[in-house]
Amino acid sequence: MALVRFSLLLATPVILLAFGACGSGSSLASNVNADAGDEAGDEADSGIPCDATGVSKGPWTLAMTEASITIRWESCRAGAKGDVIVSQENAQAPGMTVTSAESPYTVSTTYAAPLNPNAPPDLAGTYYMHDTHVTGLAPSTCYTYALAADANRKGRFCTSRNAGDPIRFLAIGDTNPSLGPATTNVLSHVLPMSPDFIVHVGDIQYYDSTVETWGSWFPLMQPMLSAGAFFPAIGNHEAEKSTEYADYVIRFFGGAGFDSPMPADSGDQYYRYESGGVWFFVLDTELPLDANADQTKWLAEELADASLKPGYRFSIVYFHKPFVTCGDTGDNPDARAVFEPMFTQYKVPLVIQGHMHGYERFTFPGLTYLTAAGGGGALGDVSANISRAECSSRTTFGRFFSGTVIDVGASTIHGVTIDDSGTTQDTFDVAVP
Ligand SMILES: [Fe+2]
Repeated sequence: MALVRFSLLLATPVILLAFGACGSGSSLASNVNADAGDEAGDEADSGIPCDATGVSKGPWTLAMTEASITIRWESCRAGAKGDVIVSQENAQAPGMTVTSAESPYTVSTTYAAPLNPNAPPDLAGTYYMHDTHVTGLAPSTCYTYALAADANRKGRFCTSRNAGDPIRFLAIGDTNPSLGPATTNVLSHVLPMSPDFIVHVGDIQYYDSTVETWGSWFPLMQPMLSAGAFFPAIGNHEAEKSTEYADYVIRFFGGAGFDSPMPADSGDQYYRYESGGVWFFVLDTELPLDANADQTKWLAEELADASLKPGYRFSIVYFHKPFVTCGDTGDNPDARAVFEPMFTQYKVPLVIQGHMHGYERFTFPGLTYLTAAGGGGALGDVSANISRAECSSRTTFGRFFSGTVIDVGASTIHGVTIDDSGTTQDTFDVAVP
C-alpha cells in the first residue's frame, strides 16, 4: 500500500517549498532523484557505527493499555542486552526486569541529509529491533523504565487511566528538530507538564528539509519519546523516499495502537486506543476518506463499538491533512461532509489535525478543530486562504511554533498552547459532551 500511495503522490504537481513545508508532490519527485544518487552510492553495507552498549535508537513506548505497554528500541548489533527494568514512578520498590524479543531488520538504502554533515546518515544494513511487551501493569499508573544495556536510555509511561479519571496528553505535529531549535524549544516547555502520552498529528521527520535524517531526529526527539507512549498519525512526509515508510516509519512506530485492524507491519496505519473512557481514533489522510473507503467504514464501526464500551465518555479524532484550515494547504469539505455526522452521533467534540505549519483553532457548534502543526517545520502562511467559508469560525490562529497540552477533566477539555519561547499563545475549554 505504501508504494501505491507513493506513486499516486508523485503524480501530483505541487510547487516545491523550500525546507520542507507540507506540500508533497514535487518535493517527493525531487527526492526520487536524490534517492537514485543515494542508492547508487551505497550498494554495500556501509558499516553501522555501534558503541559498546549496542543501542542505536530509543527507547520509546507504544500501544498503551490499562495493563500493558510496548517498549521498543533499536540495536546496531545482534545480541545486545535485551532486558528492561520497569518500576512504578516515585516508588521505592525494586523494579521488575522484562526481556525483549529481538528481530533483525535489513534496511536496503542509505539516506543522508545533503545540507547537514552533522546529521548521521541512515545507513543501509541490518538493525535489530527490540520489543518488550510489558503486561500485568496497574491502570492509571505511571512507570519509569531503563535499558539494562544502558541505564541512560530510559523513559516513563503511564497506563491508560480508569474511566472517568482525568487524562493529560501533548498534541504536536510536523516536527523537524534538525531544522533549527524550534522543536527542541517547544518540547522543553511542554514536556515538564508530564503528559501521559503523545498525540503526533503526522509529518514526524523531514528528509525533505535536507538537514534531517532519522539518525539526527532520534537524539533530538528522545525527550518526547521518553515522556510517554507515542501515538503518531501518518503524514505525507512519512514516505518522502522510496523505502522510508517501511524501513523507518513502520519499523519504528508500527503497532502503535493496541487494536489496529492491520498487522503492525502491513503499512496501513489507522487505529484507536483509549484512556480514561476517552477513545482516540487516528486516521491516515494519505488513504481515501470517501464514504465507501475502508477507513471510513472502519471508523464508523469502531466508533459505534467504542460508544458501547463500559465507561465510554467521548472520542477524539486526529489525522494529518486538515479538514478545515485558512492556511496555505488544502482543506477537505468533502471529508467533513462524510465524517462530521459520525462525530455528532458518537460524541466527538475535538478533532486535531496537522500539515498546515502553524496554529489554528476553529469553533463550530459542538465541534472544535485544532491545527497543531507548529512542531518545528518551516512556518507557513496561516491566512493564505482566509476567504474559505470555515474561516468565519476560526477563533484563534498564529504563525508560531507550538505544542498543546490537553487536560480532560470531568466537564471540560482544557487546552494550553505554548510556543517555543514558553509563552502561552492560547487557552481554551471545550465542553465534554
Ligand atoms: Fe504534511
